Amino acid sequence: MTTRIDLRSDTVTHPSPAMRRAMAEAPVGDDVFGDDPTVNALEVKAARLLGKEAALFVTSGTMGNLVSMMAHLPRGHEAIAGESTHTVTDEAGNHAVVVGAPIRALREQADGTMALRDIERAFSDPDDPHQALTGLVIVEQTHAHSGGRALPMQYIDDVARIAHDRGVPLHVDGARFFNAVVKLGVSPERLAAPADTVTFCLSKGLSTPIGSMVVGSAPFIHRARRARKLLGGGMRQVGIVAAAGLIALDEGEDGMIARMAEDHANARRLADGLAKLDGVISPGGIAQPEGTLLDPERAVTNFVIFSVARDRTAFLAALAARGVLMVPYNDGSVRAVTHYGVGAADIDRVVEAAAEALKTTEGTAA
Ligand SMILES: Cc1ncc(COP(=O)(O)O)c(C=O)c1O
Repeated sequence: MTTRIDLRSDTVTHPSPAMRRAMAEAPVGDDVFGDDPTVNALEVKAARLLGKEAALFVTSGTMGNLVSMMAHLPRGHEAIAGESTHTVTDEAGNHAVVVGAPIRALREQADGTMALRDIERAFSDPDDPHQALTGLVIVEQTHAHSGGRALPMQYIDDVARIAHDRGVPLHVDGARFFNAVVKLGVSPERLAAPADTVTFCLSKGLSTPIGSMVVGSAPFIHRARRARKLLGGGMRQVGIVAAAGLIALDEGEDGMIARMAEDHANARRLADGLAKLDGVISPGGIAQPEGTLLDPERAVTNFVIFSVARDRTAFLAALAARGVLMVPYNDGSVRAVTHYGVGAADIDRVVEAAAEALKTTEGTAA
């Protein structure tokens, strides 16, 4: 195998030629003064696309979630979120360290949702001084640990209703928001409508090199902008990177939203290929709790999560020796993520490489 096929994440994508051109030519200014026309255009575009009043360009998805929590949660207020979500497990405890907010982490079901009854019960009693006041509900869209599942529109509507009935806002960690838009076949505006605020990443399936957007009401974005400054995230001539975001969100042929359907088809192609291989098994956990064989139907967006009846480290090394990169994932599984730059022919090569890697590692302990 000559060229490397990197399926570790959709964060490994490189900017498209149109993005590179736009970046080279972007008009810029000092964004902390509000002077960068390209950033301003991107913020207007993101807000319009998701049907919100305002938007903020931030360095990363982690910063997007963090400034959102800072803008929503007074110190000591609590958020409700799924126990495997990025905000709970993969953001270095920033909710506790920086925001001063505990998270009430709820068990998730196989489809990535939290049971609505559990959410209802998780709200604290505002009259009980023992309990932190519930100040935010967070859902992850798509939901990574369940295998990149797109949380259904009805579920988001229901969670929003539960939160809003109690006077609490809903934040969507939409790192892969547009994968869900494409999968569910709804408009970005409809998917964002029940949420008060959404973070989405430009540097994952949308393939830009840097950045995420936070969208919400104008007063919320004003608070989030202050939080971004507090964290040292105010940037200067950052239109150079925002220019790639404008291309990613473009409705024309250079845009990156509609093409994510190819990533989903490629993930399914990969899952179909892997499921036929001797030694590929169910990933376990919430990605696929029961059964001994990989169920390809669970590859619904751009993630494929599976396990191998082999020593996982040896399998991944044997794959890497054949030019294919994947990563260890939760519950002893392996994760492959499809993205811009990986085509159907690459997927067929990946399946061949996996078959060989399974053969050479046969007999290693799982
Ligand atoms: C669901 C989810 N939320 C947030 C993030 C954070 O994004 P970033 O890596 O840009 O900080 C990630 C990154 O993988 C993610 O998967």
